[in-house]
Amino acid sequence: MPKARHQFVCQNCGAVSPRWNGRCEACGEWNTLVEEGDGGIASGPGRPLRKGRLVQVERLDAETQEAPRIASGIVELDRVTGGGFVLGSALLLGGDPGIGKSTLLMQASSALARRGNCVVYVSGEEAVGQVRLRAQRLGCANSCVSLLAETNVENIITTLSARKAPALVIVDSIQTLWTESVEAAPGTVSQLRASAQAMIRYAKSSGATVVLVGHVTKDGQIAGPRVVEHMVDAVLQFEGEGGHHFRILRGIKNRFGPTDEIGVFEMSDKGLREVANPSELFLGERLRAAPGAAVFAAMEGRRPVLVEIQALVAESALGTPRRAVVGWDSARLSMVLAVLEAHCGVRLGGHDVYLNVAGGYRISEPAADLAVAAALVSSLANAPLPEQSVYFAEVSLSGSLRPVSQAAGRLKEAQKLGFAQAVYAGTGQKEAAAGLSHVTLSSLADLVVDLVSTGAQSLQRAGVAGR
Ligand code: TYD
Ligand code: MG
Repeated sequence: MPKARHQFVCQNCGAVSPRWNGRCEACGEWNTLVEEGDGGIASGPGRPLRKGRLVQVERLDAETQEAPRIASGIVELDRVTGGGFVLGSALLLGGDPGIGKSTLLMQASSALARRGNCVVYVSGEEAVGQVRLRAQRLGCANSCVSLLAETNVENIITTLSARKAPALVIVDSIQTLWTESVEAAPGTVSQLRASAQAMIRYAKSSGATVVLVGHVTKDGQIAGPRVVEHMVDAVLQFEGEGGHHFRILRGIKNRFGPTDEIGVFEMSDKGLREVANPSELFLGERLRAAPGAAVFAAMEGRRPVLVEIQALVAESALGTPRRAVVGWDSARLSMVLAVLEAHCGVRLGGHDVYLNVAGGYRISEPAADLAVAAALVSSLANAPLPEQSVYFAEVSLSGSLRPVSQAAGRLKEAQKLGFAQAVYAGTGQKEAAAGLSHVTLSSLADLVVDLVSTGAQSLQRAGVAGR
């Protein structure tokens, strides 16, 4: 065996460097290079290639069967995987520590075992007793899920191969696994990559679904599961805001299904509960007709979600007024403020502006611009927006409103939840939601003029003048 060489591997992106650097040249992260052996893998010129064997070549137009799947019956989970876990595939479930990955997978294991599938839960982080206690709390302890507290990949694969072939293997988590074939500490990129590769090979050869759990940490010392992302067939991300009880399962990559689907869950004392109608969750605690609140008809992939945007505009005592945003992009807020100032005569230069998306939800769509502008003007004027209205449109720098995609889906959801009016850009999708009254605008100034005419006196008092 050739002598193992030493090299420096970035724990964030996996780039290899022959020298130590303070900063990884590939991804720009600081303090992420760690010395690792290359496991004695021979590389470079001078080593003759072994004679290989012939491999069968296939036709592209040949018939192929749909990949067989195992559905858990947890609708929100099955939707994101595209109808159930594909047998023989490998998935990575990422998410911050404590978000509920182990809880979700324990509930999924139990549901699948109850449907007659053989499930093995490999826990590298928690002892068997801990996993059992959690399962008891979740009410899924009586199902026939086999537990395995082990971190050595060779031991895991040998144990799995000696038993009845499982349909699903959960590995919680990939960061705790280590293999003897690599000379590096558990948790380093080399170990992570080799262990994941071994588990993925096991999935392909045995026909079991392997779900790898990966913690996402900003700390460079623990290997980010990014190096595993391109090795697996699907990457799911479990997200949530600290302090809020809802969680979103998002498909980031899926070789066997859609990536624009989300699953919504609520964390309760009995584990994760499915949320069939997310809009009701986000609008649940809404106060009727409060100034500074506007409902935005958002889209999460192909799923409409109505959320409330709250703004507070208050006179500033500071030389430089404060702008604070939770759940939205602060650069985008500055842009909307500039457009309101330049094209609509709304002066906010002497005001502090606070913007919050209710329920801890995060919006990344530019379609929220109009709802944000409406909430801002409403707060400044201390005049509530018309009750039962939803808003969606993108604001351009010229002050005009641009239509956004999937308007029909957004309108349908608003109608379903009993909203009476939709304010948006474009020609209208009246046929899509006949029960709504449609207000189609072409510029942001039109919205301000509209608000002026409804809450005239209070708007004028606050110093807002529509053009
Ligand atoms: P866990 O699944 O252990 O998170 P992860 O595996 O992603 O690190 O979930 C941890 C959190 O979930 C913990 O803070 C407690 C909370 N939780 C509940 O609120 N209810 C429950 O029934 C369970 C099992 C956990
Ligand atoms: Mg866990």
